[in-house]
Amino acid sequence: MRVRLAAFTLLVLFGWHLSASGQGLQYEIGRSATQEEISDWDKTLDPAGKEIPEGKGTAVQGKIMYQESCESCHGENGINGSAPELTGYLRIYPIHTWDKIYRTMPLGTSGAGERDIKLSPDETYSLTAYILYLNGMAAENDILHKQNLPAVRIPDPDFIR
Ligand code: HEC
Repeated sequence: MRVRLAAFTLLVLFGWHLSASGQGLQYEIGRSATQEEISDWDKTLDPAGKEIPEGKGTAVQGKIMYQESCESCHGENGINGSAPELTGYLRIYPIHTWDKIYRTMPLGTSGAGERDIKLSPDETYSLTAYILYLNGMAAENDILHKQNLPAVRIPDPDFIR
């Protein structure tokens, strides 16, 4: 760490020295971050939905999966479970709920934070549609997909988690 810091300081001083003779302040140090580094750091999800995969699903499909894989923790109809309630509170952009489910749910039962199964995009669209349905924001046969999910908005600010 100390070595790295020293090297950095040297570079900064040297770079500054080089550019001080030129016009304008150009440090001429470092390099552009690679695409890989940027995606490593960039964990936020664009509410416009460009980063999420294609897929689709309805609340009717989601309900079956919910009862099998989610209800044990989140409770029947999304209430009265041991995990956070999914009815009555939602993230401001439902696309973030989609992402949360896709990346982290269902939580494994071992308590170690790992997952027993990983959901497909279609399953995630269905489960999100079911959660929207529980919150009165979708009808049970509405098809939720990559194009319409970003447009879904929480109707009442009291809902926002
Ligand atoms: C073993 C228990 C367990 C199971 C099974 C489970 N969850 Fe969760 N879930 C949690 C816990 C605990 C949290 C809160 C901690 C966290 O955010 O990771 C959570 C958080 C969430 C959230 C975020 C709530 C928010 O907006 O803050 C959503 C959405 C969610 N779960 C959906 C699901 C869905 C859909 C399933 C089924 C595929 C599922 N969960 C299965 C335990 C579980």
